[in-house]
Amino acid sequence: MAISGKTKVCGVIGDPIEHTLSPIMHNAAFRALELDFAFLAFKVQATEVGNAISGMRALNIHGLNVTMPHKNAVIKFLDEIDPTAKTIASVNTILNKDGRLLGFNTDGVGALNALEQNSVTIRGKKVLLLGAGGAAKAIAYTLSQESDEFVILNRTPKLAAELSAILKQKFNKKIKAGAFSPDLVKDNLADADVLINATSVGMKPNDNQTPILPQWLKPDLTVMDIVYNPLETKLAKNAKAAGAKIISGVEMLIYQGAASFEIWTACQAPVEVMRKAALNHLQQV
Ligand code: ATR
Repeated sequence: MAISGKTKVCGVIGDPIEHTLSPIMHNAAFRALELDFAFLAFKVQATEVGNAISGMRALNIHGLNVTMPHKNAVIKFLDEIDPTAKTIASVNTILNKDGRLLGFNTDGVGALNALEQNSVTIRGKKVLLLGAGGAAKAIAYTLSQESDEFVILNRTPKLAAELSAILKQKFNKKIKAGAFSPDLVKDNLADADVLINATSVGMKPNDNQTPILPQWLKPDLTVMDIVYNPLETKLAKNAKAAGAKIISGVEMLIYQGAASFEIWTACQAPVEVMRKAALNHLQQV
């Protein structure tokens, strides 16, 4: 659809932003549904976050995704924060609703849908999460409500402990935390159903690294690596070789994008279109 004076503008803010897949996914989705929307990427430095959000108001930008490193910093400039985003102090989606800026976080629901839409249920399962950073927090918030047992291991154990304390208090579920040490990883993996890597280990240019020794992987495990660059990480390759089920990081990216799309447009996201656009682009680069 041609851009006109009526086109609703959405975008993503972050720094760096050059490699974002969001414009590719969202513009493909807008085109597929013939929505009069357009999506751009804006490089916003940390010192400019407040100005960027003032700009969103002034220019009547309809929606924004927020990526690294601004997911926490945007919060104080918004009018309302939904309970998920508030608990984990992280906003990845902003909706401009008649001048009021509403903050959401779709990373957790993105992770849950990535698993469930690929026939992996979390209810009643033991989940082992590696990492306690921004993405890990969102995943932990959503998945620990569903799981039977949820274990968070992080290189900085204090962050894992803080996250588990917040979630335990909120949901009264079996949630444990500890250090990302070989012993704890091995012990917890032995009876885990789902392993999620939410650390940056294995991301290009360190794609020869993996957070898990191959001999600890097993056929009855589902492995979701949120790293999608490279498309198939060393962890995913090893898990596949061990007979485990693999969920690619692109799936979480697509489903968090789909949830943001639905917040902005109130239309059901064309997930297949978004997947095709993201994968086409990743395969080209
Ligand atoms: P994101 O928003 O993508 O989650 P982040 O908030 O910077 O990014 O979190 C990165 C995660 O990867 C953290 O859990 C980090 O551990 P620390 O909390 O100890 O920093 C983890 N991480 C990064 N590099 C790592 C490494 N080499 N080994 C283990 N964990 C690592």
